Amino acid sequence: MTQTKILVTGGAGYIGSHVVLALQELGYGVVILDNLVYGHQDIATKVLGAELVVGDIGDRLLLDRIFSEHQIDAVMHFAAYAYVGESVKDPLKYYRNNVAQTLTLLEAMLAAKINKFVFSSTCATYGEPSQLPIPEDHPQNPINPYGASKLMVERILTDFDHAFDLRSVRFRYFNAAGADPQGRLGEDHDPETHLIPLVLLTALGKREAITIFGQDYDTPDGTCIRDYIHVSDLAKAHVLGLEYLLKGGTSQVFNLGNGNGFSVKQVIEAAIAVTGREIKVIHGDRRPGDPPMLVGSAAKAREILNWQPEYADIKTILTHAWQWHQIRH
Ligand SMILES: NC(=O)c1ccc[n+]([C@@H]2O[C@H](COP(=O)([O-])OP(=O)(O)OC[C@H]3O[C@@H](n4cnc5c(N)ncnc54)[C@H](O)[C@@H]3O)[C@@H](O)[C@H]2O)c1
Repeated sequence: MTQTKILVTGGAGYIGSHVVLALQELGYGVVILDNLVYGHQDIATKVLGAELVVGDIGDRLLLDRIFSEHQIDAVMHFAAYAYVGESVKDPLKYYRNNVAQTLTLLEAMLAAKINKFVFSSTCATYGEPSQLPIPEDHPQNPINPYGASKLMVERILTDFDHAFDLRSVRFRYFNAAGADPQGRLGEDHDPETHLIPLVLLTALGKREAITIFGQDYDTPDGTCIRDYIHVSDLAKAHVLGLEYLLKGGTSQVFNLGNGNGFSVKQVIEAAIAVTGREIKVIHGDRRPGDPPMLVGSAAKAREILNWQPEYADIKTILTHAWQWHQIRH
């Protein structure tokens, strides 16, 4: 039997690398396409031992070459820019990379007759929630260009499904966190903006303090509540989504979260317990556009994909992330 082969864009990045590992462990062939703007070559080639093509998803000639050299069965698309604040300051950069370059990728796929696509979307497409936990049919009104860029691709995928029979699974993630439980992979963004790595870098002494933005929200301890989902659970859901498409499933959208929120203060307290270190906290003002609470319902992924997250506990997420940070930094 020929090996099923997947092109993973952004596979040298945080979430993509965990998905590559999950695919490899199940015997899939993988080609990574990453321009290494944020990805890590050592992770892709040394840790994962994957075939890495260093290049851009907007490079049509390169895509055509990859699709002619490899029998690719499906594309999993993680490559994107994902800094919300930067997207407000430079929306052109976000629409170009996340939307226009994705169109080039889709166009090359269609030319190569590849019609299965797994897409990294985000809870940022919902904007301010009017219902909690957020279901997939919640209105989508993104409040920043990053969320809008992801919503545009979702819309393109709906239209491409109708017009070109391109089947897609769109995953709207809440906050990806944690690291491979065996310490092989983890989160290493530069710049880093996510709460858990920032807290752990503070515990490691790499940062002076962690800033809590706003303590007067309408939540039990006054700090924002977010839904943290372990990156290995995310990876597992992606493999299930891929297999759903490979078996001929129709296009779907799924939230991926724990349905369970933790406040910024709770995360910091849990990090102090897990690391046994002091973590200096600074109190800052609220950031514009930060809703008090973002928690998703992943009931649909559990039901249709039979997805069962293994590491929902915040202390487990922090323990795995801490293990990784101590190795990496
Ligand atoms: N991290 C989260 O909590 C989160 C939440 C929701 C959605 N997402 C989405 O998940 C995906 C992966 O996120 P991540 O945290 O792993 O980010 P990441 O920056 O670690 O990974 C993205 C990878 O894509 C590569 N890349 C970017 N533009 C490219 C291009 N034009 N051509 C080729 N490679 C390119 C980068 O070098 C990087 O390795 C992104 O699409 C992001 O929007 C992430």
